[in-house]
Amino acid sequence: MCGVVGYTGTKQAASWLLDGLQTLEYRGYDSAGIQVVSPSGNLHGVKCAGRVAVLRERAAAANPVGTCGIGHTRWATHGAPTDRNAHPHLDGTGRIAVVHNGIIENFQELRRELMAAGHTFVSDTDTEVIPHLIQEAWDGPAHGDLAAAVRNACDRLEGSWAVACVCSDVPGTLVCTRNGSPLVVASTDDGAYCASDVMPLAGVTSHVLQLDDFDVATLSPDGTVSITDRDGRKVEHPSAIDIDWDASAAKLGGYSDFMAKEISEQPEALERLLKDRLGKHGIELDELSLTREELAAVDKIVIIACGTSYHVGLIAKAAIERWARIPVAVEYASEFNYNEEYLVTDHTMCVVITQSGETADTLTAARRMRGMGCNVFAITNVLGSTAARESDGTLYIQAGPEIAVASTKAYTAQMVASYLLALRLALANGSMERAEVEKHFHELETLPDIMREVLARRWQDKQAARLFRGKQSSLFLGRNVNATTAYEGALKLKEISYLHAEAYPAGEMKHGPIALIEGGFPVVAVVPADHVHDKTVSNIQECLARGAVVIGVATDGDERVAKMCSEVLWVPPVADELLFPTVAVIHLQLLARYVARDRGYDVDKPRNLAKSVTVE
Ligand code: F6R
Repeated sequence: MCGVVGYTGTKQAASWLLDGLQTLEYRGYDSAGIQVVSPSGNLHGVKCAGRVAVLRERAAAANPVGTCGIGHTRWATHGAPTDRNAHPHLDGTGRIAVVHNGIIENFQELRRELMAAGHTFVSDTDTEVIPHLIQEAWDGPAHGDLAAAVRNACDRLEGSWAVACVCSDVPGTLVCTRNGSPLVVASTDDGAYCASDVMPLAGVTSHVLQLDDFDVATLSPDGTVSITDRDGRKVEHPSAIDIDWDASAAKLGGYSDFMAKEISEQPEALERLLKDRLGKHGIELDELSLTREELAAVDKIVIIACGTSYHVGLIAKAAIERWARIPVAVEYASEFNYNEEYLVTDHTMCVVITQSGETADTLTAARRMRGMGCNVFAITNVLGSTAARESDGTLYIQAGPEIAVASTKAYTAQMVASYLLALRLALANGSMERAEVEKHFHELETLPDIMREVLARRWQDKQAARLFRGKQSSLFLGRNVNATTAYEGALKLKEISYLHAEAYPAGEMKHGPIALIEGGFPVVAVVPADHVHDKTVSNIQECLARGAVVIGVATDGDERVAKMCSEVLWVPPVADELLFPTVAVIHLQLLARYVARDRGYDVDKPRNLAKSVTVE
């Protein structure tokens, strides 16, 4: 959600800013802009509603010249996505330009105060108060010290922000700061950079510095980065991260879209995650900050997540309860945050599942759990993300950059990370013998090859996608852990094809959703060869009796299902029915993608959605 980039150095800024914004497109946005400062102090801005491609065309025509500048992709919160509301925003004198991620909660009060002092505003955004506050400080107590002016201005703000600022009075200087919204900076031979995540920097450096809340960084054209804290004291040892994603990982590499690429990358992602996890202590999970004794004492687990990651949580619950015999509650972060009566025990552990590590609701919930005395363990994909930094322990799923907004490879990798956690807990509290844990681990190791086989069957998904032509709605059904597969399949379909999809535990269907079914209505039924197979088959019969067209997701060789369904998405047998969701979901990811493409939509950037949801 929103992206910030900034550069000062020896090369023309506009070109890198545009490239940087393009790599941030995956976060979701609806308008974009850049502002470049020439060495003689001319500020030149270009901004527009719409895609970075449109901005690129406008920038090519306007040709902003300068070796220092800032850029932004905006996801509208205050004010419609228009040219006027796009960032950067300027102060009243036109000397100071600012880009901002986050939300300024007290902007109305600040705006009133600034207007009373003679400032005029040209946009509907909360952001615009920031350059005006900087102007007040710049012409006042900061006396030409841009870092001090930015710090003074931000001291007035309530809410969250990652801010980058340039000023025509100090042409090569770029100042940035943050509170609650991530921001990284980097020093290189050709200048200094800032960005709201590491993606734009992957091609320019492998070493980035993370700002802490209220740190202010001053970037100079010779590549120097100087960081001061809230009180203006120099930060000697900022936390650093080494980027181990090579820049090509964020490129299409021959695929037509990132979603297709990321769906295909799932087997390798799991192999990376499972590598070296079986060691002399059983499951090696050093990322946990609890000792074996403390793990053995855990008597309740609360899993916090949103969206697709919440669905991982449901599978994690099944695995932990079955293998480690610990009761698990799975909570939507946004609901948990307003449940004032939430109960924990003295030995409750909190597991936070978040691909981006920046989801605002999830971060708030994790902070609350820590405040309640719980050890917080994060499962995330993004190195150095806020969730990782604020948790007691972090397991990185190592899925590599996920660019498509709809999560696919992070979903299955987070699921397997949860299986590892369940096995580690089972070993620690003695609910499973080591030999049994090892057996389950080896079963996990079979998943990548089964995934490859499912991927090779993508033609089945393409064929099944045709059954959605001309339809307005659909129903996804499954039982037990595959109710979750149904939820995830329906979410994927809704997100990228804009086709309504309802997901229900199959047995619950007759308590309401069955009323939806009429002749030709598409039903996707996840019906593996498991202990509830016969029950799900009966539910399929109920759908057929009302004229539904059923697409089955079934285990190879299931003749009964084959006879009932219009199409079957076949899955090779898995060693344990708990693992079926990890491989079966690939069919539903592919199905959603084919339906969306059939309807002519951009599968990577679905409307209204953002990759990391940094507002509540
Ligand atoms: C759906 C999707 C979202 C995210 C949700 C949480 O495909 O990606 O539902 O799962 O916004 O995001 P993270 O996992 O980054 O906390």
